[in-house]
Amino acid sequence: MVTLLENPLRVGLRKERVPEPQILVIFGASGDLTQRKLVPAIYQMKRDRRLPPETTVVGVARRPWSHDYFREQMREGIEEFGGGIGNEEFWQDFAQGLYYCPGDIDNPESYEKLKAFLAELDEERRTRGNHIFYLSVSPNFFPEAIRQLGAAQMLVDPVKHRLVIEKPFGRDLSSAKALNRVVQKVCQEQQVYRIDHYLGKETVQNLMVFRFANAIFEPLWNRQFVDHVQITVAETVGVEDRAGYYESSGALRDMLQNHLMQIFCLTAMEPPNSLDADSIRTEKMKVLQATRLADLHNLDFSAIRGQYSAGWMKGKPVPGYHEEPGVAPNSTTPTFVAMKFMIDNWRWQGVPFYLRTGKRLPKKVSEIAIQFREVPLLIFQSAAQQTTPNVLTMRVHPNEGISLRFEAKMPGPDLRTRTVDMDFSYGSSFGVTSSDAYDRLLIDCMLGDQTLFTRSDEVEEAWRVVTPALMEWESSSDQDFVPKYEAGTWEPAEAELLINRDGRKWRRL
Ligand code: BG6
Repeated sequence: MVTLLENPLRVGLRKERVPEPQILVIFGASGDLTQRKLVPAIYQMKRDRRLPPETTVVGVARRPWSHDYFREQMREGIEEFGGGIGNEEFWQDFAQGLYYCPGDIDNPESYEKLKAFLAELDEERRTRGNHIFYLSVSPNFFPEAIRQLGAAQMLVDPVKHRLVIEKPFGRDLSSAKALNRVVQKVCQEQQVYRIDHYLGKETVQNLMVFRFANAIFEPLWNRQFVDHVQITVAETVGVEDRAGYYESSGALRDMLQNHLMQIFCLTAMEPPNSLDADSIRTEKMKVLQATRLADLHNLDFSAIRGQYSAGWMKGKPVPGYHEEPGVAPNSTTPTFVAMKFMIDNWRWQGVPFYLRTGKRLPKKVSEIAIQFREVPLLIFQSAAQQTTPNVLTMRVHPNEGISLRFEAKMPGPDLRTRTVDMDFSYGSSFGVTSSDAYDRLLIDCMLGDQTLFTRSDEVEEAWRVVTPALMEWESSSDQDFVPKYEAGTWEPAEAELLINRDGRKWRRL
């Protein structure tokens, strides 16, 4: 028997540790992510004393900002998107550890200047040469930034120098392979942190604890008991002001190939041998290797895209994708994707996994629903008697938690049943709302823990799975072939058909 102390799953995925002092260098620091997520996360962690006081941030971008202007921008970000400044004295001290170094991604001189500046800061702030380079720039600049960092000898130390790469990692299988080659030329895999912020979400991590720290679910987690699985990540927002990025990305590259497929892997994988990063990533990789689109001969049976047209959200009219600023009038970029995957292994043979994601859907909701099989024989045959198969739902957002739906007898003399939910919610059980995913991921990177980051082979395999759909969709530039759905409605009719054809329905959330 495993004791409490021996079993890390019982005591949390990772013990609380404080990382070494380091400098986080953010490329693309004038962008939204730095102001909304990264710096507010660092601020909060410093306030909670989860980071040493020496922790330093250096923003790099083209704009000719001063240190003080950068500090003002970050202050606004913490006030608007973080938990607020709180103690003014604390902020003043924190601001002293924020710096800005203007530079061009493709200019070797910018890297020399940055390198000299980091050496100065190492002395001044006692950061011991620990440098994390976070690429929060447009994905087409990733290869250049990595090459330049390599040429400037800024990634030479396999322990002290780390590279964080935002998603999407590549645009397809061949570009992901090419990017991996660029990375491998300048550093070792142990230095690379391919980020997918969904892996930092509490409920997504809880999937492993739920599956592998409880004895009662695992025996049911297979083809014998599960009818199918639905994974949904629905958003109400449209493309906002991100058309520049989104037009060349779309829902498949922006969401499905990374966020949804990571959730899919954690749902379907075998128990890992241990909790170390490679054991977990190897199990995820094995799931991907066994995964394929359901019908490769008839893609309409396994992959559907869609694009929102004008509609109504919360009682207000909203434009269609084509009317959004920066979107080409004949754009075929999908804002919705639904896919049906099959996994060819003993556990899941014959069990479909339906994944869907889209923008301008009626609700912001993310969940994993395990739909169990019907009872073998229904003995409650009275009139109007209908039972619903059991569903286990893991809510990633909102109201993070887990619920199990089952049938219960209604009170009264008649034997009538009704579907009820047994519910666990993070907020009410732990009295806290889950922290932002970026806190967790940044601190893991600082600690050198790669568990929640994607390995090179994993990212390539995820591209391999979706390649047939990408190729088919990109071979036609004809707008007429992209199914439409009205903003504020759930999905195009074609996506309904994808699941209805199997005698199943999308969950209405
Ligand atoms: C990002 C995508 O990775 O995830 C965005 O680029 C999307 O398009 C966002 O809106 C959704 O994240 P969350 O955490 O709000 O569900």
